[in-house]
Amino acid sequence: MAEKLWKGRFTAKTAEVVDRFTASIDVDQRLYRYDIEGSIAHCRMLARTGIISEEDRDQIVQGLNQIRQEIEAASFPFSDQLEDIHMHIESRLFEIVGRAAQKLHTARSRNDQVALDVRMYLRDALTDLIRRLDGLQRVLIHLARTHIDVLIPGYTHLQRAQPVLLAHHFMAYVEMFHRDAQRLGACRVRTNVMPLGSAALAGTPFPIDRAYVAELLEFPAISANSLDAVSDRDFIIEFLSSAGLCMMHLSRLSEEMILWSTTEFGFIELPDDFATGSSIMPQKKNPDVPELVRGKAGRMFGHLVAMLTLMKALPLSYNRDLQEDKVALFDAVDTLTACIEVYSQMLPNIRIQSRRMEQAASTGYLNATDLADYLVRQGLPFREAHHCVGQAVRLGLDRGRELHELSLAELQTCSPLIQEDIFGYLNARETVNRRAGPGGTAACAVLAAIQAAEQRLE
Ligand code: ARG
Repeated sequence: MAEKLWKGRFTAKTAEVVDRFTASIDVDQRLYRYDIEGSIAHCRMLARTGIISEEDRDQIVQGLNQIRQEIEAASFPFSDQLEDIHMHIESRLFEIVGRAAQKLHTARSRNDQVALDVRMYLRDALTDLIRRLDGLQRVLIHLARTHIDVLIPGYTHLQRAQPVLLAHHFMAYVEMFHRDAQRLGACRVRTNVMPLGSAALAGTPFPIDRAYVAELLEFPAISANSLDAVSDRDFIIEFLSSAGLCMMHLSRLSEEMILWSTTEFGFIELPDDFATGSSIMPQKKNPDVPELVRGKAGRMFGHLVAMLTLMKALPLSYNRDLQEDKVALFDAVDTLTACIEVYSQMLPNIRIQSRRMEQAASTGYLNATDLADYLVRQGLPFREAHHCVGQAVRLGLDRGRELHELSLAELQTCSPLIQEDIFGYLNARETVNRRAGPGGTAACAVLAAIQAAEQRLE
């Protein structure tokens, strides 16, 4: 049976229920690569500073490399009695190289070790997530480019408001995911700080070389306070908050995919291989993928609240509560990765029903504001113009016609300022293309936004 590495001061063995309760190995074994890499760097530093011999160093490094292979070959024995990944690796190292293994933990504690492992894990995860978000932006940009002519109704209050380009709508999400990637990048800067050397909480009296460890592990900075370094997890909370924002954006997109694929909207059709059927209603094609993304957003927000709550009353420095951080962190990384992935694959294959979209964009008095603008250009104050157009809409509603379907004479009953040129002016595409300033929905403005986004991604 595995021996506890800290058994010296104890007279009784840990209760089995406690072994099971305190073990985190099921969760933290996925840190093994970082744990080994960190230990190798620590060990090289110990030899370089003369704290251990070069022979010990070579044995330890070779043993750690062997353990990595064992774990990757799934021949490594895991057990609840060894609590966590750090204990597992150290105790296996002792089996392999004997006494030298016992020197590895000099000038180190599991407290700074786990902080190191988690930071190494998260900085890699962040690099990967940013890359995936860039990929998702490219997919959306491609959709925008290939549908640059398609009009849809823009909505406020989920009521048709004014026509916009479908491409403009897609590009709105590109902006959101761009900010999400920026946030993850900023979080990566604060994650990328090397805590080793803080030891249990107070630092170490050994003449270690922290800068050398940082260099070996490619950290641009080392932590400045040992108490902070072993007990701080705000970089995880920052990640969960940024991940939460990104899931919120994905969830909004999901809501639209769900709405747009209803019979009522009919704006898109989800690809068959990204939809599911009903076990009872043969006609159904359900948007389970976006629904699940929307649902998983809730789980992500839960992780953020869990971590904030976990930290809020922790006295300095390390407390075992912190072990729970990895449950939230790993699931958040997995969830966000999966959601970005599924969207990156689904979006290129949705069928855009442009006829339906354009039809919706030219009904429902979406050009009413433009008629008001027209009257303003003829010299009417906007409030007055707003009132005249309100009357025109009323007339249209009574006669079951759109504004541009009313005759010039009918329109002139609302304002004599209206002339024959109004009909070109009210055309949906015209109304879109007049909004040509930066950030607007005119094709030229959207193409400029597309170009800017592409440049950002280069
Ligand atoms: N498994 C522990 C964690 O995740 C490692 C640190 C243990 N430290 C301690 N003082 N018990 O936080």
